[in-house]
Amino acid sequence: MSSSVPDYLRDENLTQETRDLFSSLPREKGWLVSQMYQYQGIWHTPALLQGILNCQNHFQAKDSDIILVTNPKSGTTWLKALVFALLNRHKFPLSSSGDHPLLVTNPHLLVPFLEGVYYESPDFDFSELPSPRLMNTHILHFSLPESAKSSACKIVYCCRNPKDMFVSLWHFGKKLAPEETADYPIEKAVKAFCEGKFIGGPFWDHVLEYWYASRENPSKVLFVTYEELKTQTGAEIKRIAEFLGCGFTGEEEVRGEVEEIVKLCSFERLSNLEVNREGKLPNGMETKAFFRKGEIGGWRDTLSESLAEEIDRNIEEKFRGSGLKFSC
Ligand code: A3P
Repeated sequence: MSSSVPDYLRDENLTQETRDLFSSLPREKGWLVSQMYQYQGIWHTPALLQGILNCQNHFQAKDSDIILVTNPKSGTTWLKALVFALLNRHKFPLSSSGDHPLLVTNPHLLVPFLEGVYYESPDFDFSELPSPRLMNTHILHFSLPESAKSSACKIVYCCRNPKDMFVSLWHFGKKLAPEETADYPIEKAVKAFCEGKFIGGPFWDHVLEYWYASRENPSKVLFVTYEELKTQTGAEIKRIAEFLGCGFTGEEEVRGEVEEIVKLCSFERLSNLEVNREGKLPNGMETKAFFRKGEIGGWRDTLSESLAEEIDRNIEEKFRGSGLKFSC
C-alpha cells in the first residue's frame, strides 16, 4: 500500500494473538484493503479489528458514559460535534462561540474513537476523560464490550440511508487510497455491499441490532437518523438532550441555545473552518475528508439507476418486517 494510506488500513501493529486469530477467521479480498476479516458477523480491516479486540478486552464502561455509534460515513463527525456542543454548553457557552473548541479542533479530536484509539494507542487511559465520558465507535451491538451493555451508559445510534452511506464511503475510500481503489469498479462494490461483504458490513445487521435494542430498551439506546438530523436538527438535538438527561430549560430555549448548536455544527460552518479544511488527525488523515457534500440523496450523482435499484431491492428485503424504512 502507498505511504499516504492511513494506519487504519494497514496491518502493521498487530499482536501475535490477533494474527493467530486471523488464521481462523473467514477472509475476503476487499475493496480498499487487501484483506478483510469477518469477526462476530462483521467484515473488518485488520487494524480496526485489532482495535475492537483491545477494546473488548480492556474497556470498562461507566454508568455515566455516552457512546455514539454509527456505521462509517453515516454522520459520525456531525453527531460528535452536536453532542459535544450539547454536553458542554455550560462549560463552553455558545453565545461566546468565537473561542468554542469546535472552532479550532476537529470533532474527532474532541470525541475519541474507541477502536481507533485502542489500535493506535492501546495504553490510552480512558479514565482520564472528563465526566461524562463521550466516545464513539462503529462496533456492532453484539460485539460491544460487555460493560457497555450491562452498565447504565447511554448509546446514541445514528443511521443513514444506505445509498448515501455507500456513496459517501466510496468517495472517502477513493480519497484515502486512490491507487488501491482505482481499478475497482463501482458495480463490483455495490454487489459486495449487497452481499454484506463490505467493510463494516453487513449494513443491515449493524443497523437492525441497534434498531431492535432501541425498541427493547429506549432509555438505554436512542436511534436517530442522518435524514431527521438534517431536516429537523433542532428537534433532534432536543430529543438527544432529553435522552441524555440534559434537556434544555425554557430559558435556554428562549435564549436560542438550540439554534446556536444547530448553527455551530452545521455543515457550512464546520466544513469551512481552517481546522477542518487544512488540518490533519494524528494518524495522518486529512480532516477535510470528513466533509464532502453533507446532503440527503447525494447518491444520485454517483449511482446509476440500476445500481440504486439493486441496493433498494436488497435493503427492502433485509429490512422487511422490522418497521424501519428508508425513504430516499
Ligand atoms: P457525504 O460524503 O455524503 O458528503 P462520517 O462523519 O460518519 O465519516 O460521515 C461523513 C458524512 O457526513 C459525509 O457525507 C460528510 O459530508 C457528512 N457530514 C460531515 N459533517 C456534517 C455536518 N456538519 N452536517 C451534515 N453532514 C455532515
